Amino acid sequence: MINGHKLVYLDSASSSQKPSAVIDAMDAYYREYNANVHRGIYTIGEKATAEYEKARARVARFINAPDSHEIVFTRNATEAINLVSYSWGRRNISRGDVIVLTEMEHHANLVPWQILVQEKDGDLEFIPITDDGILRLDVFEVLLRLKPKLVAFTHVSNTLGTINPVREMVEMAHAAGALVLIDGAQAVPHVPVDVQELGCDFYAFSGHKMLAPMGSGALWARRELLEAMPPFLAGGEMIREVHLRRSEFNEIPWKFEAGTPAVGDAIGLGVAAEYLQALGMDAVREHERDLVAYALEVLPREVPAIELYGPLDPDLRGGVIPFNLPGIHPHDVAQVLDRFGIAVRAGHHCTMPLHERLDLAATARASFNVYSTREDIDALAGGLMEVQKVFNV
Ligand SMILES: Cc1ncc(COP(=O)(O)O)c(C=O)c1O
Repeated sequence: MINGHKLVYLDSASSSQKPSAVIDAMDAYYREYNANVHRGIYTIGEKATAEYEKARARVARFINAPDSHEIVFTRNATEAINLVSYSWGRRNISRGDVIVLTEMEHHANLVPWQILVQEKDGDLEFIPITDDGILRLDVFEVLLRLKPKLVAFTHVSNTLGTINPVREMVEMAHAAGALVLIDGAQAVPHVPVDVQELGCDFYAFSGHKMLAPMGSGALWARRELLEAMPPFLAGGEMIREVHLRRSEFNEIPWKFEAGTPAVGDAIGLGVAAEYLQALGMDAVREHERDLVAYALEVLPREVPAIELYGPLDPDLRGGVIPFNLPGIHPHDVAQVLDRFGIAVRAGHHCTMPLHERLDLAATARASFNVYSTREDIDALAGGLMEVQKVFNV
């Protein structure tokens, strides 16, 4: 109970709740076979290693990676993108090279590229959006004439919910000779993801938004890219042989997993991937599509003053509803909703340039996951009416 009310959790785009299966798997690791991996030749060390590598195989299956060695465990999507910007980027981007991003990127898929091009004297270009949050592919086409080395974009927008036409964008980018990185942080929990079908080169995501533990995440990249890339972080685990003045590095993926990894978190991530697969990602998507359609119908009916942003077509949109109540700051909206046990996020959602583009200082955002229900949306509508009463608007 929160403030005397049953919790209505509508902030899953920030981080999801975790199912018992995930918590139990982590609990079992810490209670029954807590040990470091790839080291101990004793029973629980071997069991920890086997479970850690099993988790990698489960994650590979979840996104249909052709080879589990192409999955690098990271702490989150941010680290996965930084791995690419530091390792691939520093080797492949040089003076005058162009990287194309979009106006709707999360800071995690923007700031690492800003730092890279500042260091290398390269350039960033941005695919603009329409007023209702759809990427302008006509402008993308024009930007591709600049022959970018890399195109990096989000699969699903964390702020507007827009599901981008990623497959078409990958084809366009490849035809122009660019590599493609997809930020899948908001996609893997909500829509089926098949990296082979998408045809991209890098796919980054976090675990904690897809029912998995905090501090878990992964980068998928094509084998030949990972093999050609220099290490990101250096130290133990990522080496094969070390001499005083030189070292030989380990094979992929361990070349990119320096130091003791988050073993329990990786195991939890593997279980979450399997949990979602058992639910069926088509069913997950259908459930969220239904919630989005319901929210887009109910909220303006019950709260006529509400301003909604993003695509109006639920087919183009994941489970994210950004909104404002005119005359009330979104922080105040979120604070009053909390009195009724309703958790929404308020602020810029790590997309400050997108808010600037839409001329919004901030928004409130309700977001869903597999456990969200129509009743949650009814509660939100009721809560927003209470907010209006409190502020007399
Ligand atoms: C689209 C998108 N990309 C990247 C991230 C960064 O995720 P993390 O903070 O888990 O690294 C987020 C988190 O909100 C996101 O929504």
